[in-house]
Formats: sequence, C-alpha cells, structure tokens
Amino acid sequence: MPQIKVGKIKSLNGEFVAPADKSVSQRAVIISAIAAGKTRIHNFLDCDDCQNAIRAFGKMGIETKLKDTKDGKLLEVWGRGLYGLIRPKSNIYLGNSGTTMRIICGLMAAQKFKTVLTGDKLLSARPMRRVIEPLKAMGADITGCIKDKQLYPPLTISGRNLKGVSYKMPVKSAQVKSSILMAGLYAQGKTKISEILKTRDHTERMLRLFGADIKVNGLEVAISGKKILISPGNIYIPGDISSCAFFIVGATIIPGSKIIIRGVGLNPTRSYFFTILKRMGADVCILKKKNLHNNSEPCADIKVCSSHLSATVLTEEEVAYCIDELPILAVAACFAKGITRISHAAELRIKETDRIYSMVTNLKKMGASIHNEGNDLIIKGTGRLKGATLSSFGDHRTAMSMAIAGLAAIGDTTIKNTQCINKSYPDFSKILKNITLAGAKLLV
Ligand code: S3P
Repeated sequence: MPQIKVGKIKSLNGEFVAPADKSVSQRAVIISAIAAGKTRIHNFLDCDDCQNAIRAFGKMGIETKLKDTKDGKLLEVWGRGLYGLIRPKSNIYLGNSGTTMRIICGLMAAQKFKTVLTGDKLLSARPMRRVIEPLKAMGADITGCIKDKQLYPPLTISGRNLKGVSYKMPVKSAQVKSSILMAGLYAQGKTKISEILKTRDHTERMLRLFGADIKVNGLEVAISGKKILISPGNIYIPGDISSCAFFIVGATIIPGSKIIIRGVGLNPTRSYFFTILKRMGADVCILKKKNLHNNSEPCADIKVCSSHLSATVLTEEEVAYCIDELPILAVAACFAKGITRISHAAELRIKETDRIYSMVTNLKKMGASIHNEGNDLIIKGTGRLKGATLSSFGDHRTAMSMAIAGLAAIGDTTIKNTQCINKSYPDFSKILKNITLAGAKLLV
C-alpha cells in the first residue's frame, strides 16, 4: 500500500499550475456524453473518479480519447445526444465516485433501459435516499439496499418516462440538485428546484453552455425537459480550489513560505474557503484573472504567503459553503490563536469517510487539542503538532490534510494507505516534492 512520509520543512516555496477541477471534469464527461456532437474538454482532470465516469459512459456506447497536450490533458468525447446512450451489458461500477453515482442516477432514471450502479466498499456505505426521493417524485423506478431506513448502493434503476416537479431540497447538496437537473432534461414539462442555500452551480453553468433551457433565480433553478443539448465544441476546466486548499493552508501555516498557484477556479459557490481563511488572517491575494475562452467558470492566479492566524467560528451555513475544505481548515485551526469551532458539520460524517472521526483521530495523534461535541469540531490552536503514524481512512482529503500537517509538525509523519489521493489529485506528491525546499525531508 502506498504511503507518504514527511518531516518538518523550513518553508514552502514555488509556483505551480492548479490541478483541474474534479467536480467540473466529471460534469463535463456526463453532459458531453448526452449532447449532440464532439466535445473537446481542455485541462481535463485525469483522476480515478473521472476515469470511472469515462468507463461508465464507455459501457453505454460513448467513445472518448484522452490526449496529452502542452496545456494539460485533453479529453475528446463523441456525444450521442439526449437519447443515444445504449444499454450497458453489465453493472456499471463507479469505484469511489459519489458525485458520478448521484448525478447519473437522474440520467439513468430517464433511459429506455435498466442499469445497476455499483461502487467500492466506501461508496457502498454512502446514503442515496437524498437523490432517490426527488427522482421518485418525478416517476423514477430506483431501488437500493435498505439499512436503518437509509438506501445504499448497488442501485437498480429501471428507466421510465419522467414528469417535471417542483422540489424543495431538504439537504444542501449540489450532487442532489445536479441529479434532479439531469432527470429534468428528460422530463415532461418544467422541473423547479429550490435550495436552502446556494450550493456549487457547475451543472447549471455547463448545461447553459450546452444550450439547455435553464433559468436561475437566486435559490431557484428551473429546467425545461425534452430540449436537446448541443456541444459547444470546446470547453475548459478551471483549477480545483479544493485541491489547492491543501497547499494554500500549508503555505499559510509554515513560516517563510510563499507560493503562486496558476489558474485556480474562483466560482463564488466554491471560493468561500478564502473568506474564512482571510478572516483568520491569511495572506492570500488574487494576482491575475484568467479568461478561459468560452468557459463560464471564473479563474485566477493566486499568491499565498505565510501569516499568523487567529481562531474563528464557522456557522452551519458557512460549513456548507466550504464542506470539502473543512479537513484542511481543521489543520489551519491547530495553528490559529484561540479556539476555532466548526459548527453543525454533520455532512462531514457521510463523505468518503466520517471526516469528523478521521480528523479528530489523526490530529489527536499529532498532539492537537481537538475534540468533537456531536457534529461540532472544536480546535484550540497551540501552534504545535508532533509527527505520528496516521491513517488516510481511505479518504483523499484526510490523507492530503495530514500530509500538510506533517510538514508543519516536529518529527516524522507517515500517512498510510494514500492510494486514495488519486481520486482527486494524482499529482499531489509531485507538487509536494517540488515546492518543498531542498534539504527538507520528504520521502514519498
Ligand atoms: C460535489 C458536491 C459536494 C462535495 C463533493 C463534490 C459535486 O457534495 O462534497 O466533493 O461535485 O457536486 P454534496 O453535494 O453532497 O454536498
């Protein structure tokens, strides 16, 4: 099993290009597959989750080609139109990709065939009722494994004619919203979704790019069914702010650091992490806004220098705005003066692993003053961590957070079972090596 070993480093220095966004890359595969024409997806993220999405559509007749270019990976997708997917000959295995599974539930629900969606052990433990319920209200036929009133994969989906609905989402989830939007593309009439707060809107932006009749009004999204999608030809994937967050926090907490990251996606529904970090005193500045041709996603180069942090309190709403960055924010909090509270973070319990448990367990091993009160995380910043042997718990964001913590800790840190990092950031170790000063201890 691969592992990462790090020791305390003097500072993080250097410049690198942000890895491509996982959420946007996955949506690009899904939407290109059901659009008419060929789509060239520039700066595509070649990671485990995206490969699982590619394989899933390959089983339904979608041809793709992945190429290396001087500007990153290029994925070509030959879309077969809204009604062009073919019945897969066997179950569709999605590995660890919760986003792909949840989003394509809505798509599969409207096909003329039956599909069975399966996943690895961790994905099979993730709740699916949140997507199944609204899709059933649209007429979908989906069954899962019932346990303690919850539904889990494998999911068996028998395609049906769907009808548009008005749905008030009880959960704050972009995956659920996206799944309903995919079903809405095929449904009779209009589908209206209202959210409690605005979750990431990559699906809405991309569907608009492909010509869908989609209207967004504050927290309401409406989509008309039976309107074909047409490929815009080329689309561009911005850098993934959630992956950059690890190095941003690393450069913030390690004195004398200065890094520049090129092409970071700054979609307002994703960049609240900066608001929190700046409130804590971080020195992050936007250098140059990038114009990504027809891309509807904002993007910029950013510079991060080390700084002293102060503790903060994250409200329930703020937790939802930076859900994927909470593990690394917990590491930042260990170096922030005062007591940080991350409130009502129940959603962290049902990510790739229970991230409240994984972060409390690992950071405690490193000597941090951290505990949870129910679903709240409470961290007293002591400015000190000690090296330890830690587990990734099979979760990419836990693994990368602990690697950064290890760079700031006294003594050596080993993170076991780091294969999971390939889920979202296959180049993480390479970048880590490059921005670690010569003489620093880093054995990957
Ligand atoms: C994602 C949405 C979030 C996030 C996940 C990716 C997406 O999940 O945690 O990593 O791409 O839509 P929820 O929508 O369940 O909050």
